[in-house]
Amino acid sequence: MRSIHPLPDTLVSQIAAGEVVERPASVVKEIVENALDAGARAIDVALEQGGIQRIRVADDGAGIVSDDLAWALARHATSKIASLADLESVVSLGFRGEALASIASVARLTLTSRHRDAHHAFRIGGSGGEHTAPEPAAHAQGTTVEVADLYFNTPARRKFLKSEATEFAHCEAVVERAALSRPDVAFSLRHNGRVVRHWPQATLERRLEAILGAEFARSMRAVDAGGTSLRLTGFAGAPSFSRAGRDLQFVYVNGRFVRDKLLAHAAREAYRDLMHGDRHPAYALHLQLDPRAVDVNVHPAKIEVRFRDGRGVHQFVYHALAKALAASAGAAPAPQFSPSFNTSAGAPFGASVSPIAAPRMAGMFDAAGSGGSPYYAGAQAALGVAQPRAAYASLFDTAPRPAPLPATDDAHPLGFALAQLHGVYILAQNTAGLVLVDMHAAHERIVYEKMKLALDSDDVPVQKLLVPAVFSAERLEVAAAEEHRDALAAMGFDLAPLSPTSLAVRSVPSVLAGGDLVELARGVLRDMMEYGAAHVAEEQRNELLSTMACHGAVRANRALSVPEMNALLREMEDTERSGQCNHGRPTWRQITLKELDSLFWRGR
Ligand SMILES: Nc1ncnc2c1ncn2[C@@H]1O[C@H](COP(=O)(O)OP(=O)(O)OP(=O)(O)O)[C@@H](O)[C@H]1O
Ligand SMILES: [Mg+2]
Repeated sequence: MRSIHPLPDTLVSQIAAGEVVERPASVVKEIVENALDAGARAIDVALEQGGIQRIRVADDGAGIVSDDLAWALARHATSKIASLADLESVVSLGFRGEALASIASVARLTLTSRHRDAHHAFRIGGSGGEHTAPEPAAHAQGTTVEVADLYFNTPARRKFLKSEATEFAHCEAVVERAALSRPDVAFSLRHNGRVVRHWPQATLERRLEAILGAEFARSMRAVDAGGTSLRLTGFAGAPSFSRAGRDLQFVYVNGRFVRDKLLAHAAREAYRDLMHGDRHPAYALHLQLDPRAVDVNVHPAKIEVRFRDGRGVHQFVYHALAKALAASAGAAPAPQFSPSFNTSAGAPFGASVSPIAAPRMAGMFDAAGSGGSPYYAGAQAALGVAQPRAAYASLFDTAPRPAPLPATDDAHPLGFALAQLHGVYILAQNTAGLVLVDMHAAHERIVYEKMKLALDSDDVPVQKLLVPAVFSAERLEVAAAEEHRDALAAMGFDLAPLSPTSLAVRSVPSVLAGGDLVELARGVLRDMMEYGAAHVAEEQRNELLSTMACHGAVRANRALSVPEMNALLREMEDTERSGQCNHGRPTWRQITLKELDSLFWRGR
């Protein structure tokens, strides 16, 4: 073994760069954040080849004095904090004094800046850890950072870069996030010489409309709650504006875009009873709180935070959002499941009512079932025996109870199909009486279990499409198709990028081939973007399975023949857990002859 020795500074920077500079988009993020910290009113981002070839960000901020230029590229050198106390109450986006040094260690960086009090600008170049002496240059007040040849000296990392279109899509997402955080700053984004996006200084409403779209803007509700120590502002989409993915959810903590499970959960809870389980809301929310109440120094890319009083923040955000959604609920479409969606909205902020513990699923059953029927009460009580709850707990976070099969020794407990009702329900007769089946929910469960089995045994039968289904896609969707190609292939999908904004579905898992293939592909890509595919955890995999099953299952309003309906009933009997669809709704109900009799006062 070698003796212990300190690593050369450049190598230390390159190691740090591994954490901070994952791809061109991370470079864009760091430089744009520096521009915002410098008080810029306008920021221009220009990229070549998805940022792999060149990234140039120009701002009109305060600038850097010539004597400080070399410091800007030095490791652990920052103008933003000077002590631990500063760190603990940091309000700037940067504070590690590391970004530019990291970038300069793995790319060719040029920094040109004119401080607001200086007569002209200076330029310094840094590359692979070395830098040139500052020399005079022409530049208006502000700073331009140019980064060329990312990873030119670390070829192993360069190999991880994806196509130009994919890297560009990530860069664009980063600029959008920044633009949403600061509508008072103008942004423009160019790619290969072409202006792709331009947002002039605007109100938050206008900026949201420009980025999240007019439909969102029409539906959105203003959120403004709390006071100086804790405040939530922004806009939340009406429950009627739901999305298949979480792509339009933006949360900022003291101006910093974050991915925070706690805040995401609070928001999900606020929408929970207003939106179907497989749909997602859109929102842009800004949480402002005393910087000392939140630790921003927990992640190298500063995308995660830790709250001192997580529970309090959760409660506050939940109530603030629920109240905003309830306030104008009159204009909203009726909630899909539970009519009592705003029960806790009137609670004062900070009240310690737990929104999480509400027994919503039980409510769903009552709403869907026939009220006080003794059968349902009995069914729920008997459940623990028929199907161990633990089996469900692994599948759903809030596991509802499935209905047991009817007590009959019939070989076909779900009986035989009689007819289809309103394109939604199958009516079947069994020895106990009438069986009502929610066709889509039932098929969804079957497809889910089949897919799960196939995945577990690493053997997913694939259906190649004779005519590929081509659809226009978001850039990030195309990027996800490329990035997760192998994982998708393992699941039976072949989604080929045709252009930066179109995809072709060339094959899908056979069990899913009957559904809406484009929606299926979109849903799967969105899940992939969110979870990443490398090692999806069990819970996320099940969510992915749910997405697939939902889109792969027969839609309501499709006419089924009697033999088709009977085939479905038989498959339900064969499928484990067929009593629940993947969203926790029941898939079928028994109405006994006795119950029917009592409806007509027979035998009284
Ligand atoms: N666009 C800019 N305008 C003015 N000053 C800048 C600009 N970019 C960088 N600087 C100066 O260079 C310093 C180093 O920037 P760098 O991004 O490396 O570190 P930081 O922003 O302080 O911390 P972090 O590593 O968390 O981003 C900053 O502290 C700031 O003083
Ligand atoms: Mg910085």
